[in-house]
Amino acid sequence: MAIAVALVLIVLGSVVFHWITPWWITPLASNWQAMDDTLTITVVITGLFFVLINLFIAYTLWRYRHRPGSRAAYEPENHRLERWLIGITSVGIIALLAPGLWVYADYVRPPGDALVLEVVGQQWQWRYRFPGADGQLGGSDARFVGGANPLGIDPDDPAGQDDVLVEGNEVRLPLNRPVKVLLRSHDALHDFFVPQFRARMNIVPGMVSSFWFTPTRTGRFEAMCAQLCGVGHPDMRGHVVVVEAPAFSAWLQDQPRFVQTLAPPVAAEGSDAFAERGRVLAQNKGCVACHSVDGSPGVGPTWKGLFGKTESLDDGTTALVDEAFLRDFIRNPQARSIKGYPPVMPRIELSDEEVDALVAHIRSHGKPGQ
Ligand code: CUA
Repeated sequence: MAIAVALVLIVLGSVVFHWITPWWITPLASNWQAMDDTLTITVVITGLFFVLINLFIAYTLWRYRHRPGSRAAYEPENHRLERWLIGITSVGIIALLAPGLWVYADYVRPPGDALVLEVVGQQWQWRYRFPGADGQLGGSDARFVGGANPLGIDPDDPAGQDDVLVEGNEVRLPLNRPVKVLLRSHDALHDFFVPQFRARMNIVPGMVSSFWFTPTRTGRFEAMCAQLCGVGHPDMRGHVVVVEAPAFSAWLQDQPRFVQTLAPPVAAEGSDAFAERGRVLAQNKGCVACHSVDGSPGVGPTWKGLFGKTESLDDGTTALVDEAFLRDFIRNPQARSIKGYPPVMPRIELSDEEVDALVAHIRSHGKPGQ
């Protein structure tokens, strides 16, 4: 009897909680109302079955409770009841799954005039590329990936020369224009997910996956990685900023073309431009995914105030973070490890000059007076 009462209370509590909960989907910012509709269908069907089954159990607990002298009847088969149950369950499952198939078929069939956006996932950051005036992305391959070419774009493909590269984790998109998103990964499984767009897709190394959506609201939306992809996974965040079409065109004009990024400006050692080169390298090599420059915590130490600091190492010794220390550490990150940080920093191929530029950049964020 007590269990019957508990079940009824659980059902009532769940239904009430569903209506008053503050945890519900964020307001929609894309064309994918259909995603929300399928979610609603799922909630209604599973909710209905949850309520009915639990109330039925509570009823039978009460109706057939133990009473002196009563005996249960034995009924091994009831074909009529079984047919009904199989029928109702089948209809319920079809109603749960079929709408999703329709929506998904739409989701991977972009309109012909869609703007193409390439998203490349890498432990642990996002990069973006748009086709240039020719409307075509240049070919890409892992063997072209290098210091100046983090996206691995084929340097000999004429279609790729005018491709627009976006520096950093933030990309802009025009309002009310369909966007076809092409997804690639440099390393592990990732998943590009912007909750407000109701749009996400797994990114599998070695293949290009895609989906499309139309942003219907201006604003700044967080893009997050939705596949556990290593220790920096929670930091793998970017932003999609939706702006009016003219603002988007102006912004796009300002982004570098692939051919420009292949020839970085020459800068003398010790100059501000040299540290600036280090900053761009830190972006392109993915350092910024783990090292902040504003003091916020990450997988690795923040670069703010790092230069000139004395760090404790896991072997019990201490070391002054100077140019020699940083150079050695970048060259061979596994040789020593700093207390409080997992030894996960990858070894990256860099020329001596690139290492110096990175060190200059880290130094520029060092302790005041250093
Ligand atoms: Cu990329 Cu999680």
